[in-house]
Amino acid sequence: MTANPDKSASPQRYFVKSYGCQMNAYDGERMGELLGTSGMVAVETADEADIVLLNTCHIRERSVDKLYSEIGRMRVRPDGTSPMMAVAGCVAQAEGAEISRRAREVDIVVGPQAYHRLPDLIARARKGERVVDTDMPVESKFDVLPKRKRQGPSAFLTVQEGCDKFCTYCVVPYTRGAEVSRPWAAVMDEARALIDAGAVEITLLGQNVNAWTGVDEKGQAQGLDGLIRALDRLNGLARIRYTTSHPMDMTEGLIHAHKDVEKLMPFLHLPVQSGSERILKAMNRSHDRDTYLRIIERVRAVRPDIAISGDFIVGFPGETDRDFEDTLQIIRDVDYSLAFSFKYSPRPGTPAATMEDHVSDAVMSERLQLLQGLLNEQQHRFNQAALGRRTNVLLERLGKKPGQKIGKSPWLQSVIVDTDLPIGSLIEVDIQTAGPNSLGATLAMEEAA
Ligand code: SAH
Ligand code: SF4
Ligand code: F3S
Repeated sequence: MTANPDKSASPQRYFVKSYGCQMNAYDGERMGELLGTSGMVAVETADEADIVLLNTCHIRERSVDKLYSEIGRMRVRPDGTSPMMAVAGCVAQAEGAEISRRAREVDIVVGPQAYHRLPDLIARARKGERVVDTDMPVESKFDVLPKRKRQGPSAFLTVQEGCDKFCTYCVVPYTRGAEVSRPWAAVMDEARALIDAGAVEITLLGQNVNAWTGVDEKGQAQGLDGLIRALDRLNGLARIRYTTSHPMDMTEGLIHAHKDVEKLMPFLHLPVQSGSERILKAMNRSHDRDTYLRIIERVRAVRPDIAISGDFIVGFPGETDRDFEDTLQIIRDVDYSLAFSFKYSPRPGTPAATMEDHVSDAVMSERLQLLQGLLNEQQHRFNQAALGRRTNVLLERLGKKPGQKIGKSPWLQSVIVDTDLPIGSLIEVDIQTAGPNSLGATLAMEEAA
């Protein structure tokens, strides 16, 4: 490699961009905090940065193409010099050294379990070394990362990582490794630090967050519901959420937390992927259609207003019109408030990639459109049901128009409010308008006596 004089200068300004899931967003925040404590400062665009860190996702094919085009776009700054480039996240884990072979401008490749070593990797890269670290070390990155920094009102907190479920289409068990739960005390400490740093709402994260297990300070075994109950007692915290859950880890205790834990928001993201028994088996989802529907029934029995959200894959290998019709039917049966849906994307190394009867792209597009049409209708209807309701909103950011703020309802709907109250306020509002993607509201006024 030819020495790039610009790269030998000490990197001062960093830019982190995260793709993929919320856990990756969390990792991106923590990488930023780590670089911050190493004396660097965050900048808003790659053009101003001395080090560009792309925190990638490997879940679908397009994400890899996106990465290489981003590298191409960011490798030269407007003044003709080049930043140091680092690739982190799940593509880094899966592709390793292949990335710096394919894109020569990449100096550092670092996996999701090794990014606490970034300061050292940067020092080595500055000496001209091409560094690849995709270890899954025994020491936990969480023990090394700096304390949480100033937060917006809504913060993420990763409590569980990895996945042992091995759905046949999915790369996560390979890129994130086996299921690991962070210890009780570490989670509680981080929650307190987040609240001290300004968080009003905490979303507990995990690839299978409801598989979290631990031992509390009294030595008692606890599941995610125990952790949620302990967080409920923390002063300064107003809202608790968790995502993503697997149907087979939906315990009775967690279901009941939705009834009696006041701060736990009435929202459950519980992906089912398909409504066809045959396809669920081929996906190795370890639950059938009825098991899933019964869980939804039980949750609704204790918390009738709960919003249910899901993920769907259309065009899994072998999916027939009949299988797809079963997926539309389960969507009608559940009635979702929000959903994410994708065309099946074959991932190298996963069992589904070598299955027979791949579905054509044209058929996948057609099915996706039908499915999204139905889901959008349900989401719009869910929003319209909020019309006239008085509820609370946590203000999270500025709106497009002056004086507007945007926040979230308890059911995770975006709500636009005209108000001068600061971001971070938890306010009572009256819902006045309901569109497909957001609600409009005004500050609740006390009724005149
Ligand atoms: N742990 C979560 C999901 C993690 S991945 C769960 O089990 O629900 C997020 C979503 O991406 C999945 O729910 C699935 O809908 C989608 N997905 C995963 N692999 C995919 C693939 N190969 N092709 C298309 N979509 C996929
Ligand atoms: Fe992937 Fe399945 Fe694990 Fe979710 S449960 S991360 S879809 S293997
Ligand atoms: Fe993507 Fe990795 Fe998350 S593959 S969805 S960033 S766990």
